[in-house]
Amino acid sequence: MATCSRSRGFHGCKRTSSLLLAAVALSAAWRTPVWPQFCALATSSRWTRTRNCQLHKLGRPAIVAPERAISGARQLPRIGQIFPIANVTNSSSPKLLAGWLSGTFANNSGLVGMDLCSVGGNRNSALLYTLAYLSNDKDASYVSQILPRQRDGRFRVRLFRNVPVEEDADPELFTISSQTDHQKLAWAMRSQLRPGSGDTRHCKSTVQLRLVGREAAEQALLAVEELYWRIRREITFRVFFEERSIPTDEARKDTAGMETKPQLVVSITST
Ligand SMILES: *[C@@H]1O[C@H](CO)[C@@H](O)[C@H](O)[C@H]1NC(C)=O
Ligand SMILES: *[C@@H]1O[C@H](CO)[C@@H](O)[C@H](O)[C@H]1NC(C)=O
Ligand SMILES: *[C@@H]1O[C@H](CO)[C@@H](O)[C@H](O)[C@H]1NC(C)=O
Repeated sequence: MATCSRSRGFHGCKRTSSLLLAAVALSAAWRTPVWPQFCALATSSRWTRTRNCQLHKLGRPAIVAPERAISGARQLPRIGQIFPIANVTNSSSPKLLAGWLSGTFANNSGLVGMDLCSVGGNRNSALLYTLAYLSNDKDASYVSQILPRQRDGRFRVRLFRNVPVEEDADPELFTISSQTDHQKLAWAMRSQLRPGSGDTRHCKSTVQLRLVGREAAEQALLAVEELYWRIRREITFRVFFEERSIPTDEARKDTAGMETKPQLVVSITST
């Protein structure tokens, strides 16, 4: 994101009246998005106006949170469809959708990828569970990559069938709960995946998230997207179920007993 320095900003406004300059300085309007337009309107020179417009565009990008974009007017993508798109809603049955996806891949031998688009707000847990149920397909393996959001602000992943990914044997593990902050989690993963200056000895290529439940799944998927933008590298992830042993209530009462429950694993590799 380009930033607009104070001196450049004032340079662009040098033809404005001193009154305006004083007003701008006094109100620290520099921090507000209104002053560049105000400045552009108040100047007479076309050159200055154009320059101000450019400064405005460069220095004050409209940062629209994905949630905001979704609640606003629906914007259609301006690019043709590259891979077939499947919508995942929060009422989709992940199990049925996974069955449909693997059937569609099996019926179309030339199909290598599909885009899954999360429809219905930022409720992405159904998408993560769909990817997990796909791992039950005995005839194929699936990996996914984060796609940049389009103008509609929807979360998207591109699903690939039978694309091998080389994962680390001893990935760093993160356990996710519904309380996990996806941004902090993304930074923690990034520090594992991205080497410091020149030192690659302690740098991993794979990290794994372990979680149970919808809220945790939502945070995990947002964290993977955040990681993609933070690390600025291609990341590929695989989702699957794993049995984990937890003590039964009897075990807590000091009698022997462990029971197994499925947990969801997201294995993320910097590819
Ligand atoms: C996905 O949802 C969007 C908006 O609801 C709709 O326009 C589009 O046709 C849907 N695509 C498919 C493949 O169902
Ligand atoms: C795949 O093909 C079979 C046989 O033609 C059909 O019964 C099934 O519905 C197809 N599955 C999908 C997901 O299109
Ligand atoms: C599912 O999405 C719809 C909007 O498409 C929303 O109104 C509804 O509250 C969501 N349900 C849940 C359980 O999040």
